[in-house]
Formats: sequence, C-alpha cells, structure tokens
Amino acid sequence: MAFFFFLLFFSSVFASSLFLFLFLRPARFRRARLPPGTLGLPFIGESLQLISAYKTENPEPFIDERVRRFGPVFTTHVFGEPTVFSADWETNRFILQNEEKLFECSYPGSISNLLGKHSLLVMKGSLHKRMHSLTMSFGNSSIIRDHLLVDVDRLIRLNLESWTGRIFLMEEAKKITFELAVKQLMSFDRCEWTQNLMKEYLLVIEGFFTVPFPLFSSTYRRAIQAREKVAEQLRTVVRQRRKQSKEGERKKDMLGALLAGEDALSDDQIVDFLLALLVAGYETTSTTMTLAVKFLTETPLALAQLQEEHDQIKARNKESHQRLQWNDYKSMPFTQCVVNETLRVANIISGVFRRAITDVNIKGYTIPKGWKVFASFRAVHLDHDHFKDARSFNPWRWQKTSSGSTTLNAFTPFGGGPRLCPGYELARVELSVFLHHLVTQFSWVPAEDDKLVFFPTTRTQKRYPIYVTRKNDTTHSSTPHIKGGEANRVESGFNM
Ligand code: HEM
Ligand SMILES: *[C@@H]1O[C@H](CO)[C@@H](O)[C@H](O)[C@H]1NC(C)=O
Ligand SMILES: *[C@@H]1O[C@H](CO)[C@@H](O)[C@H](O)[C@H]1NC(C)=O
Ligand SMILES: *[C@@H]1O[C@H](CO)[C@@H](O)[C@H](O)[C@H]1NC(C)=O
Repeated sequence: MAFFFFLLFFSSVFASSLFLFLFLRPARFRRARLPPGTLGLPFIGESLQLISAYKTENPEPFIDERVRRFGPVFTTHVFGEPTVFSADWETNRFILQNEEKLFECSYPGSISNLLGKHSLLVMKGSLHKRMHSLTMSFGNSSIIRDHLLVDVDRLIRLNLESWTGRIFLMEEAKKITFELAVKQLMSFDRCEWTQNLMKEYLLVIEGFFTVPFPLFSSTYRRAIQAREKVAEQLRTVVRQRRKQSKEGERKKDMLGALLAGEDALSDDQIVDFLLALLVAGYETTSTTMTLAVKFLTETPLALAQLQEEHDQIKARNKESHQRLQWNDYKSMPFTQCVVNETLRVANIISGVFRRAITDVNIKGYTIPKGWKVFASFRAVHLDHDHFKDARSFNPWRWQKTSSGSTTLNAFTPFGGGPRLCPGYELARVELSVFLHHLVTQFSWVPAEDDKLVFFPTTRTQKRYPIYVTRKNDTTHSSTPHIKGGEANRVESGFNM
C-alpha cells in the first residue's frame, strides 16, 4: 500500500489524458475557478520534478515551493493528468469524509487486476460499507486483546530468536508481518506452505511497482502469474475451510469471519479479499517497524527512554512469569509517542487519491467533475503550523498534546472517513510489541549508512542493514522496580 501515492499517479493512462488535454481542458479552465497552479509541460506536466524530489531524502521543497506560491490547495499536472493537490488538513478531511458522495477512489486497471476486483480497496457502495465494518471489527481492540495479541507476541519472539550478526532489518520485518498476516487471516503458522506462498506473494508485490507501462513490463506479467498462483493456493484453503465450517467447525480468524458473514461470498470473492488484506497490512507495517528503529538509532535519548519503559515491563513480567499482556501494551505511553512520531515523519502512505464525481466547490475553488485530487497527509504532517519544528523526529512532542487540539485532527496516518484503515490498531500493537522485544533483547548498530527515499515507495535504499548483539538477560533487574504495581510513569524531563 505504500504504492498508493505514486502508483495512482502512474495509473493515469496516457491516451485518456491526451484526450483530456486536447479537448476538455480549455473549456473546463474557462468555466471553473480552479485552484491556482502550474501545469508544466504537456503530458509530462510536473512529473519529473516530483519524481526527482521524491528520490531524495528531502522531497519537501516540491510541495513547499508550490504552497508558498499558490497556497495549500493548488493545481499541478503529474503522471498524465491534471491533479488538485491538497496540503490543507481541512480540505483533506473534507475529501475523506465525502467518499462516495463527492469523491471516489479510483484505481487504474493494472492495480485492480493485482488487487482483485473483490478487494476492499476496490469495492464500492453498500457492499464496501458492510465489508469495511466487518474488517474493522475483526481488528478492533477487544479482538486484539482477547485473540490476536498472543500470536503477535509469540511470532515476533520466534522471529527474533534467529537473529544474529548482520541482518537486513527491512527483510526481517517483512517476514514478521507476513507471518502475522497469514496467521490472523487463516490461522497458518510458518511452514513450507507459507514460505512458498511468501515467495509468490513477493512477486505480486513487485508488480505494484512497475506501473508506468504495465503491459510492456515482464515484472508485471510475472506478478499477474504469481497472483494467480497465490489465488489458487488460497482457493484451496477457502474450499477446505468452507467444508469444515459446514461441519460446524469455526476458527476465529478473518477467513472464519468471512465464511460466517451474512453476505454469502463466493470463493473468488473471499480470495480477492484476503489477498488484498495481505497486501495492505504487510509493506506498510514492516516499513514502519524499520523506520522506527532507524529514527530511534539516530535519536539516542529517545531510545534510552524507550528502553527504560520496556525494561520495566519486562522485569515486571519476569517476576510474575507472564507473557506480554494487553495491560502491558496499555502501559507503554512513551512507546505510543514513538509510534505516532514515526508515522508522522515517515508517512508510509503519503496521501490518497480520489476522483471528483461531480463539480466540487471548496475554499472558493471548483474542482471539476472527473478530476483527480490528492489529499497529501505528508504535507500536513510536515507543516510547521501544525507541528512545531515539524521536520525533526521528536517523540516528546506527543506528551504535550492536550486533547481537542488541531494537532490530532491534522494527524491522519491511517486516512479517515469510510475508508479509514481497518488495521490501524493492529499495526500499532504489532509495532509496540516488536519494539518491546527488540529493545529488551538486543542492542544494535547500523552496518552501513542508509538513506530514506520516497520514490517509488517510502523505504531505505539498502534495506537497513544492522549488526545485532543479544543482550545479557541477567542485566535487566538493575532497573528500579515500580512500587505498588502502579503503571510506569514517563519522566518528561527530556526536551528537544
Ligand atoms: C503502519 C501501518 C499502516 C498504515 C500507515 C496504513 C495506512 C492506511 C491508509 C492511509 C488507508 C486509507 C487508504 C484510502 O483511503 O484510500 C488504509 C486502508 C486500508 N488498510 Fe491500512 N495501514 C496500515 C496497516 C494496515 C494493516 C495492518 C492492515 C490489515 C488489517 C491494513 C488494511 C487496510 C485495508 C484493507 C484498507 C482499505 C480500506 C478501505 O478501502 O475500505 N492496513 N491504510
Ligand atoms: C469488536 O468486534 C466484535 C465483533 O467482532 C464485537 O462483538 C465487539 O463489541 C467489538 N468491540 C469493540 C470495542 O468495538
Ligand atoms: C497518537 O495518535 C492517535 C491518532 O492517530 C491519537 O489518538 C493518540 O492519542 C496519539 N497518541 C499520543 C501518545 O499522543
Ligand atoms: C553475561 O553476564 C554474565 C554474568 O553476569 C557474565 O559472566 C557474562 O560474561 C556476560 N556475557 C556477556 C556477553 O556480556
């Protein structure tokens, strides 16, 4: 899903944009009061500037410059289509809230072929509504507390057991999120079958990144074939489980919920649905895990404070011989600051595309029917008006936010409205548990300099290689104990 931003840009087929350019544009331009902006060269528009900005560690000037000249809502022309770009939180919220009323998500054919036409991301209307709420309740906090947390904790521990020496953190994080997803969706533990599934699945993921000319791309063709293989394997599972569920056996996973749901879904519908969930939950969460570690490594004070929080939890659990519990997750206040700050700075999904389904008036402008809009979360998250010193990683800023401030309104790493990410709580839990085991079991140093880039997706160039050293388990009792079982308090002495 990290591909949302660019792939949707790419999406625009050149032929149709040519049509728009030659025939529609002049008329539209005269009639509507468009947000100000420049369209750049014909056809390529401002795409090249945008790509070269996002290939660096600091793509902000592309947006900053335009916001300075035109204000936070401006018109640009990228990847074949004129697009209204919003760097304004109110406009973003308006766009998200008016899903299917004024705007709708629209994916190019090459993307929906990979996702499958029955995936939640592509679905619309009342079926989307029902399936979205089914997915939301599958990942809600009581389900995580009572069912999912045990496996999140267990699978992360299991994965960390094999770490030694030099590792690529991004690769390891991907293994973790894939195993978690397969477990949550259909109750499979790691085995030969899941390993093979992951291989095919990785080919599918690659397909998402080749979109400018999918039809000429062998990666894309391979991805489509791999998708068919993954689908075939999932279909077998679905058939078996359908049989079992008729015999009264019900597993408490996503597949179980789909089979028991009120919509009588076909095998193909269920397969598409599961596959898209696998895609949606995997890259995003593993990239966030990796970047959290990178930011922490570069901010030793934050790492020290996080460490202290988790050493206390670990010491407490060691005394009572317990695994990580929901209460532990709920007593990680500083971790939650780190998670939010990572999401804010990294912007794994830097924004979302929509298409206006009618002429839309906003902030004194008109967005013509059929036009693309891009609600940029990134631009808002990195705006100094909302976040002081917005471009540095400062988890302590979250300790100070009092409820009701605009900061929280402006913070939308998981989107909002009818398409709010159903995995938002699960992703937080996975991140927190991952950080818990990482900082209590290991110390690490970067093995090489590695840089963040934002094109074609947010990632580090070298998959973040690090050297890990397992900690001496006996050292942890040195952390002072908390009296009376009271939750640990974070010292707010640090300030950046
Ligand atoms: C850090 C991790 C994650 C981030 C930053 C993230 C972000 C987002 C965002 C911004 C959207 C909205 C897309 C739109 O409006 O078009 C979204 C949708 C979605 N996310 Fe996530 N997500 C994350 C993890 C997950 C996980 C773990 C799952 C699996 C349960 C998941 C499943 C989905 C699905 C199925 C949708 C589509 C919802 C719909 O269209 O109705 N995401 N996500
Ligand atoms: C979570 O979803 C389940 C159904 O899957 C529901 O029974 C429960 O009330 C929900 N909990 C919350 C906190 O929304
Ligand atoms: C983190 O962000 C969420 C909104 O996504 C908010 O509800 C929560 O209070 C924030 N956490 C902290 C510690 O500020
Ligand atoms: C771990 O601690 C034990 C006892 O304190 C010590 O003998 C051992 O050398 C330590 N190992 C490492 C790798 O520091």
